[in-house]
Parts: sequence; structure tokens; C-alpha cells
Amino acid sequence: MGVQYSKLLLQLLLVAFFIAATKTEPPLSKPNCQQKCGNVIIPFPFGMTEACSLNTSFLITCHRNLSPPTPFLQNDYHQISVLDISLEYGQLSISLPVARNCLINNLTGESFIAMNLGPFHLSSNQNKLIVFGADAAGMVYNLENASGILYPTIACMSVYAPAASAPDKSCSGTLCCETPIQQRLSEFFYESSTNIFRRNNTKRLESYPCGYTFLVKDGAYKFHITDIFNLSTNNKFPVVADWAVGTHTCQDAMKNASSYLCKSNYSECRDAEVGPGYHCKCYSGYRGNPYVSNGCQDVDECNEKTHNCTEGSICSNSPGIYSCSCPKGYEGDGKNNGTGCRPKVSSSRIIIIALTVSVSILTLLGGTFYMYWTSKKRNLIRLREQYFQQNGGLLLQQQVVRYSGSTEMTKIFTVEELSQATNNFDESMVLGQGGQGTVYKGILSDNRIVAIKMSRIGNPNQVEHFINEMILLSQINHRNVVKLLGCCLETEVPLLVYEFVPNGTVYEHLHNQGQSLRLTWKTRLQIATETARALAYLHSATT
Ligand SMILES: *[C@@H]1O[C@H](CO)[C@@H](O)[C@H](O)[C@H]1NC(C)=O
Ligand SMILES: *[C@@H]1O[C@H](CO)[C@@H](O)[C@H](O)[C@H]1NC(C)=O
Ligand SMILES: *[C@@H]1O[C@H](CO)[C@@H](O)[C@H](O)[C@H]1NC(C)=O
Ligand SMILES: *[C@@H]1O[C@H](CO)[C@@H](O)[C@H](O)[C@H]1NC(C)=O
Ligand SMILES: *[C@@H]1O[C@H](CO)[C@@H](O)[C@H](O)[C@H]1NC(C)=O
Ligand SMILES: *[C@@H]1O[C@H](CO)[C@@H](O)[C@H](O)[C@H]1NC(C)=O
Ligand SMILES: *[C@@H]1O[C@H](CO)[C@@H](O)[C@H](O)[C@H]1NC(C)=O
Ligand SMILES: *[C@@H]1O[C@H](CO)[C@@H](O)[C@H](O)[C@H]1NC(C)=O
Ligand SMILES: *[C@@H]1O[C@H](CO)[C@@H](O)[C@H](O)[C@H]1NC(C)=O
Repeated sequence: MGVQYSKLLLQLLLVAFFIAATKTEPPLSKPNCQQKCGNVIIPFPFGMTEACSLNTSFLITCHRNLSPPTPFLQNDYHQISVLDISLEYGQLSISLPVARNCLINNLTGESFIAMNLGPFHLSSNQNKLIVFGADAAGMVYNLENASGILYPTIACMSVYAPAASAPDKSCSGTLCCETPIQQRLSEFFYESSTNIFRRNNTKRLESYPCGYTFLVKDGAYKFHITDIFNLSTNNKFPVVADWAVGTHTCQDAMKNASSYLCKSNYSECRDAEVGPGYHCKCYSGYRGNPYVSNGCQDVDECNEKTHNCTEGSICSNSPGIYSCSCPKGYEGDGKNNGTGCRPKVSSSRIIIIALTVSVSILTLLGGTFYMYWTSKKRNLIRLREQYFQQNGGLLLQQQVVRYSGSTEMTKIFTVEELSQATNNFDESMVLGQGGQGTVYKGILSDNRIVAIKMSRIGNPNQVEHFINEMILLSQINHRNVVKLLGCCLETEVPLLVYEFVPNGTVYEHLHNQGQSLRLTWKTRLQIATETARALAYLHSATT
């Protein structure tokens, strides 16, 4: 059981490894083609057989008898070794020999080297020409479109100076000369010549018997004075050459799908910067060989050091892109240059804090308001009690007790009752206003309609008198005298509550033009008589 289990695990691991291995190594060459010669990767359109390369210009010969095995370009004149092929930039690095010219017979070497790079060109501005020697010259002849007498297109001269006075590390014209190559050279030759001033100086010739001329990639060679004595034709220097595929622009090339060379998904076409043809590129986030189908494969940025997810964040890869995120309990974009990841203040905690704060604020507000309200209410009650006493309320209460049972007694109303009855002493309830005060119409809770008189502030010393009068008035029960129903003493001035008599006042009836005409003399006389009777009654009742 255990053995089987571990076997299964091993198989799974192998499968996983296989998947990982196939995933990380996208095809660079055509199927069934060798990808490498020695240490150099040979991606399509280059290849080591005719079937594996785009055409014979891209054919690479691998010299396996050399150590390490070395790739060479096909060339009419010279073996040109290939150091590196870049799909990214459409360039290749090749090495070219040194041209040497010596004045001593037993030193041999070619003073004249011809090159034909076919469809490839030395990259303009990325290579330079270097000349070594005392009174030596180096020249480059461009053979493209050349006819008749040839003239150099690039030249550099290095004159004699005693080694001690020549700058050791700079190549500036004495013993060494350098100049940039600003041409795209494909078919050309370069030549070395020495003792150009034909001076008969045996000593100098013995010290510096040769002149050397070579091309080299910018920055790939650092001059040192001792090199003058040990350079040989075995030395080769790297130069950069451009390559492109096709002979048309992208736009034209795309029209013929069978000849269009950007075969991979996730690839795009770019016109060559100089000269005819185009390059293929994998989309950003993809890597591999855009010239073979399925050559461009997603880059798993998370497995590379260049990804920009901050330490401790979660990097997740998806086709073409990757994203950073923060682990649970952290927030931020997880990026090195972004907000990174920082501990999260949980939303539930925020809610709890917010709730606590708002509840306590509310409680505080509510408490304050309640205290304010109760104290105000207490003040109001105290004020009412004060008014009640001021207005003789206690006296009235005593009297009410004394007379209770004998007759219908004065009722003591509260402010609330009367306020409710008059709709909070609304102006619409005002029946009349005069020197004595204001009279409101009111409807009590038992639906009785009353008139409520709010007197002008009276003399506080007459309270006792006022109360006694009220007791008496309330006992009066005469048909022609408006009945006093009660009073309210809780306000600054006492409120008197009377029976409500509809149909206006006697004054109105007597003096209002329309109505007074209808009153006959008999009626008027009756009014006078009955008024007199009422007065007589009042008089008798109060004594
Ligand atoms: C070349 O000849 C000179 C004498 O003419 C001799 O001193 C020198 O060693 C020779 N060099 C080689 C490499 O044979
Ligand atoms: C050579 O001639 C061709 C056709 O006339 C031209 O396109 C090309 O630019 C010329 N090359 C050089 C280096 O002058
Ligand atoms: C160079 O000088 C030497 C002596 O210094 C002389 O023998 C020789 O003939 C001269 N050669 C030429 C070409 O002048
Ligand atoms: C020449 O010799 C020096 C010192 O021996 C060495 O540093 C240098 O690399 C040599 N140069 C070449 C081109 O072989
Ligand atoms: C090979 O193809 C390149 C571009 O696709 C072209 O410039 C070159 O001339 C071709 N070489 C041969 C030998 O057909
Ligand atoms: C497309 O390219 C193929 C292969 O190079 C060629 O045989 C064919 O004639 C081309 N078709 C067109 C329409 O140019
Ligand atoms: C890639 O391209 C091939 C055709 O070259 C196509 O069959 C395949 O579906 C493509 N794959 C994806 C993932 O697009
Ligand atoms: C990470 O950021 C650097 C700096 O901006 C950028 O050059 C690099 O391409 C980024 N790496 C990835 C994998 O996106
Ligand atoms: C990231 O930050 C560094 C230093 O602060 C800065 O140099 C770099 O350009 C930034 N990269 C991006 C992609 O913003």
C-alpha cells in the first residue's frame, strides 16, 4: 500500500516536472531541429540544416570538431563564427579577424580581408574601426554599388610616439586610432598598411614591425599598449550585425499568410528600422520564438526576480500579465512601487467603533436634552405654582372646600386644559379685544363651548378681593348674567372661564345698523328692564 502510494506520488511528481519543463522551454527552432551548437542557441529563422533554416543565408554550419563546437555563417571568403543570435533585437554577434601588415618578411598575415555578409549588415553606430601601430593606417572599402576605382569609405591613422609619451589607455591617434563606423556594411573589405611615411628607421621598425586593423563592437574592446606586441591573426573581435526576414514591409508580408513569418500566436510584426524586411516580436508578457508556431509563451513573471510584487504579497500569473495582491488581513496593491501590503483595519471593527461612537454621542445628546427638558419642565411647573399662589390659588382652594356641596362651585382649570381648548390661544379663536383684556372662544374636552377672558395685568394686592368676588360670581345663577364657570391661576394673569353666549353682544345688537332696525321699541324696553333686574339681583346676591 505504502509502496504503491509513493510510486503514484513519484509519477505525479514526474508529470509535474515534465509539464513544468515543457512550459518553461518554448520551442526556439523548427520541430526536429537542433537548437544549440556548443554554447550558442540557434533559433529559427537560423538553422543548422537547410530544412531547419529559412534559406541558405540563415544556414549555420556547426563545427563540432572544435572545442567547444562553434557555429559559422556561410561565407564566400572567410569563416565567420557566430557568438550570439538575438531574436529580440534582430541582431547577431559575429567575430571578424584582424588584418595585419608587417615590414619584416618572416611575419605573415593578411593585410587585406574581404567580407560578404549576404543579407546581413554591420549595424550602423554600434561598431568601430581600430588601428594599431607606428605610422599605420586602416581603411574600409564598401563594395556595395561600387564600380571603377575603389576608395576607402572609412579610414583611421595611428602615428608613432614613444610608448612612454603615448597615453596608455586611450586610443586617440598615437600608436592606436579608433573611429565609429556609421555605415551599414554588408559587402566590404578592410586593409592594414604600415610605415605609411616611409621613414628609414630600423629601430622603430624593429619595435613596431606591424600595423593592425580590425572592426569591433563598441565597448567590447579596451585598448592596452601591450596588445601592440602580442596581437596576432588568430585574434578575432566581435561585431554586431542586423538581420531581418522577408523583403517587404509588415503590411505587405501579412497579405500572404503562407509566406508571412510571424507564425506564433501572441506575436506581432515590426518593420526593420533600416533596409527591407521585418521582425517578429512576442507580445509583452510572452517570451520565446515568434517565428515558430506556439513559439511565444506566457512568461510566469512570478517565478522571475524582476516581478514587482512586494515581499509577502501574493503574485499570481495569468496569460500576458501578472498581478500582485495582499494576503488575508492585509490591504494595498502589493506592489513595490505602489502601496504595498499593510495590515487591514477590519471593516467589522470599523463598524463597531463607529457604532460605539455614534451611540455614545446619541446617548450624550439625549441625556443632555432630557436634563434640559426636565429642568425646563420643572421650571415651568414651579412658575405655574408661583403664579397660582400669586393669583390666590390657595385662598380659592380653601374657599372651594368651604363652599363645596352647597352649590355648583368654581372649577380651577389647568393651563393645559385651556390651552387645548383655545388651540394654544390661537388668534383665530379671539372673540374680542378691549381695555379689559382679550377674550378667546374655547372648546373644553367635554365639548362645552366657553369664553376665556385673559385680563390685563391687575393689581397683585387685590388678590383676596378678586378671589372673593370670583367665589360670589360663580354662585350667581341668573338667566341674564353670563355664568362664570371657573378660572385658571397658573398663568401670570388669571384666566376667567365664562359660559359662551352666541349671537354677539348687546352692544352690537343695539348699534349695528342692520340689526338695530329690526329691534322694536318693545324689545329694547324689555332689554332695559331685564338688565335692570339682573343688576338688582347681583346687588342683592352680593350683600
Ligand atoms: C623573424 O626574423 C628575425 C630576423 O630577421 C628573427 O630575429 C625573428 O625571430 C624571426 N621571427 C619569427 C617569428 O620567426
Ligand atoms: C545601392 O544601390 C541600391 C539600388 O540602387 C540602393 O537602394 C542602395 O541604397 C545602395 N547602397 C548604398 C550603400 O549606396
Ligand atoms: C636604410 O638605412 C640603412 C642604414 O641606416 C641603409 O643601410 C639602408 O640602405 C637604408 N635603406 C633605404 C631604403 O634607404
Ligand atoms: C596581450 O598580452 C597581454 C599581457 O600578456 C594580455 O593582457 C592581452 O590580453 C594580450 N592581448 C591579446 C589581444 O591577446
Ligand atoms: C534569405 O531570406 C532573406 C530574407 O528573408 C533574403 O534577404 C535573402 O536574400 C535570402 N537568401 C537567399 C540565399 O535566398
Ligand atoms: C505566397 O507565398 C508563397 C510561398 O512563398 C508563394 O508560393 C505564393 O505565390 C505567395 N502568394 C502570393 C499571392 O503572393
Ligand atoms: C495558436 O495558433 C494555432 C494555429 O497556429 C491555433 O490552432 C491555436 O488555436 C492557437 N492557440 C491559441 C491559444 O490561440
Ligand atoms: C518592474 O518595474 C520595473 C520598473 O518600472 C520595470 O522596468 C519592470 O519591467 C517591472 N517588472 C515587471 C515584471 O513588470
Ligand atoms: C519605483 O520606485 C523607484 C524608486 O522610488 C523609481 O526609481 C522607479 O522608477 C519606480 N518604478 C515605477 C515603475 O514607478
